Amino acid sequence: MKQIFITGHGGPEKLVLREAPEPTPAAGTLRIRVKASGVNFADVLARQGLYPDAPKIPCVVGYEVSGTVDAVGAGVSAAWLGTDAFALTRFGGYADVVIVPEAQVFARPAVLSHEQCAAIPVNYLTAWQLLVVMGSLQKDETVLIHNAGGGVGLAAIDIARHLGARSIGTASPGKHAFLKARGLDEAIDYRGKDWSVEVARLTGGRGVELVTDPLGGSHWKKSYRALRSTGRLGMFGVSTATESGLFGPLRLLPAALGMPLFHPVSLFNSNKAVFGVNLGHMWDEVGKIRNWMAILLRGVEDGWVRPHVDRTFAFEQAGDAHAYIEARKNTGKVVLVP
Ligand SMILES: NC(=O)c1ccc[n+]([C@@H]2O[C@H](COP(=O)([O-])OP(=O)(O)OC[C@H]3O[C@@H](n4cnc5c(N)ncnc54)[C@H](OP(=O)(O)O)[C@@H]3O)[C@@H](O)[C@H]2O)c1
Repeated sequence: MKQIFITGHGGPEKLVLREAPEPTPAAGTLRIRVKASGVNFADVLARQGLYPDAPKIPCVVGYEVSGTVDAVGAGVSAAWLGTDAFALTRFGGYADVVIVPEAQVFARPAVLSHEQCAAIPVNYLTAWQLLVVMGSLQKDETVLIHNAGGGVGLAAIDIARHLGARSIGTASPGKHAFLKARGLDEAIDYRGKDWSVEVARLTGGRGVELVTDPLGGSHWKKSYRALRSTGRLGMFGVSTATESGLFGPLRLLPAALGMPLFHPVSLFNSNKAVFGVNLGHMWDEVGKIRNWMAILLRGVEDGWVRPHVDRTFAFEQAGDAHAYIEARKNTGKVVLVP
C-alpha cells in the first residue's frame, strides 16, 4: 500500500509517499481501497507542528476517505464486500488502503463521486454541529460564516440556505462571486476591510444571531461583539495561527494571547452564548455522528447538500495540495487521489 507520511514539521516538502505492507482488518473493522482522500486545514497545521491532536511524526494524517470495501473483519457483515463507501478515519486517511471501524463507514450515494464523498464527513458534520446542533440557527436569523470559502464554509452555506437563514461570509475577494452563486447572501473581504464594520453595516448595527469562527485569537473577541441579543458564538479553529512569523509552537502565541475570557455574569447580562466544536474529539459519540450523517445523506438526495470539490491532486503531489490551501487558493474541498 501507499501512504503519504509527514516526515517532520515544516513545509510541504515534508510530505513523502512511502510503501507499507498491506493491513488486514481486525474484528469490527473493514478495509477500503481508497479512491479519494479529503485534505483538511488540520492536516496543514499537523505538518507545521501546530496541531496538538496529531500523532507523533513520522505519521500519516487524513480524516476521511472514499473507496471500495474489499475485506471485512470478524463480526462485520460480508454484505459490505465490493460496495462503495466513505468513512471518517482517525488519521491514516492519506493512504490507498485504510482499515476503519464499521461504525465510521457510510454507503456512498450513487449520485456522488468518490471525490465528492471525501468532501462530506469533516466539512458537513462540523458545519452541522456548529449551525444546527449547538448553534441552533433558525429561519430568518442571520449567521456570520468566517472562512466561508473553505470546505466547512461551503457546507455551512448549504445548511444556512436549507434552514432559511440569512448568511454573511468572510472570504478572500476572488471567491465572492462563486460563494454568492452558491447562495451566500453577503460576502465580506475580511483581508481588505474590517469585517466587523461591514457586519454592523449589513445588520443595521444590530449584529447577528450566530457566528462560526475558525479564525481564533482576537477574532473571537470581535465575533463575540458582533452578536446581537440571543446570539451564539461557535469557536472551532485557529486558522490565524499560521500567520505568525514566530518559530515552531511559538507561532500559536499571538493567537493564544489574543483570546477572550468570557465571564458568566457578562454572558447572562448580554444574553449571549459561546461554545466550542471539535469533531476530532467526538470518537466516543459515533451514534450522534451517524444520526447527523443520516440527515445529511437525505440532504444529498433532496439536493441541498452539495459537496464541492475544488481540485484534486495525485498522491505524489500532496505537497502541492497543501501549498494550494496555504496560499488560500482553494474554494471548497481539496482531495488527493492515489
Ligand atoms: N474543530 C473542528 O472540528 C474543525 C473541523 C474542520 C475544520 N476546522 C477548522 O476550520 C478552519 C477551516 O477549515 P476548512 O477545512 O474549511 O479549510 P480549507 O477548506 O482548508 O480552507 C482554508 C481556507 O481558509 C482561509 N484561511 C483563513 N486564514 C488562513 C490562513 N492563515 N492561511 C491560509 N488560509 C487561511 C483561506 O480562505 P480565505 O482567505 O478565502 O478565507 C483558505 O482558502 C480551519 O481553521 C480548520 O482547522 C475545525
